[in-house]
Amino acid sequence: MKLFIAGGTGFIGPHVIERFLEDGWDVKALVRNERKIETLPAGVEIILGDPTQPGPWQAKASECQVAVNLTGANIFARWTPEYKKEILRTRLESTKRVVEALASGNGRILLNASAVGYYGAHRGEEEVSEESPAGSDFLAEVCRAWEAEALTGEKFGLRVCLMRFGVVLGRGGGALSKMLPAFKFGLGGPIGSGKQWFPWIHVKDVAEAALFLVKRDDLRGPFNFVSPGIVRQKEFAKLLGKALGRPAFLPVPAFVLHLLFGEMARVVTGGVKARPRRLLEAGYRFLFPEALEALREILGKDKTG
Ligand SMILES: NC(=O)c1ccc[n+]([C@@H]2O[C@H](COP(=O)([O-])OP(=O)(O)OC[C@H]3O[C@@H](n4cnc5c(N)ncnc54)[C@H](OP(=O)(O)O)[C@@H]3O)[C@@H](O)[C@H]2O)c1
Repeated sequence: MKLFIAGGTGFIGPHVIERFLEDGWDVKALVRNERKIETLPAGVEIILGDPTQPGPWQAKASECQVAVNLTGANIFARWTPEYKKEILRTRLESTKRVVEALASGNGRILLNASAVGYYGAHRGEEEVSEESPAGSDFLAEVCRAWEAEALTGEKFGLRVCLMRFGVVLGRGGGALSKMLPAFKFGLGGPIGSGKQWFPWIHVKDVAEAALFLVKRDDLRGPFNFVSPGIVRQKEFAKLLGKALGRPAFLPVPAFVLHLLFGEMARVVTGGVKARPRRLLEAGYRFLFPEALEALREILGKDKTG
């Protein structure tokens, strides 16, 4: 079986590639910047091209039964009006081009990235599952449009699964690599009040659950990629301090984040109590259901982050 991956040169992609290679798949990764090739696991076939533009890469992608699309301009930046357009454009265009490629060939399954940001950044104590309605802030609107684009694949007979990621934790990238420097100096702590929910998932569970969805022909639609062991931000900061053997009680005031990041700060000062209802109902067993175990596994191997 052949897997095509777009957006695989970021933080999550190499973990997904590694897991599918281990499972015996032929994996083709689309790369727009040749310098990124060395960051990918050995054994993956490289295709050069830009996922947001049509091109010869689509013919190669069309030989694959399954595509995973993780493409998107990074959201951890200042959201100028131009950058907001780029956040949306890269997601919609890449999804459209990947659907086109799969539909023109052997494609059967599309796994597309999305985020629990779909529900909106501020839902307080409300518990949300895949049936909950979308929010109305910028990221919620991006996710809604992004998912709608992916679902156009159904018209071409594709089985489409939408991976609504929480905060993905792993070594050498993602949110944790941004938090670690402060925590290592004992300067870490809760963000704002710390009462907001922190929907996290270990990157190994992302890769494992992606493979699980591919193998289950009866599953389609949205899936919350979040661990069942959700904690509040304050508790997460405490567990991270514990895993590092450092104190973690210095709060980061929300207004400082707003000064630094503008509108994007809402992503980290907010939080949503998302549950992985559909993955659990389908029988998926999380490798890392508890935050402390996940953090110990991640930090135990590479305490430099
Ligand atoms: N990590 C998380 O906690 C998290 C949470 C929720 C949702 N997500 C979503 O899941 C997806 C993967 O996450 P990630 O953490 O692996 O993201 P990432 O590290 O930022 O990687 C993003 C990928 O998109 C590509 N890309 C970025 N800008 C592009 C552009 N202008 N044109 C074409 N390709 C572009 C990158 O290619 P280059 O390597 O060439 O730059 C890379 O392959 C993203 O869409 C992200 O929004 C992630």
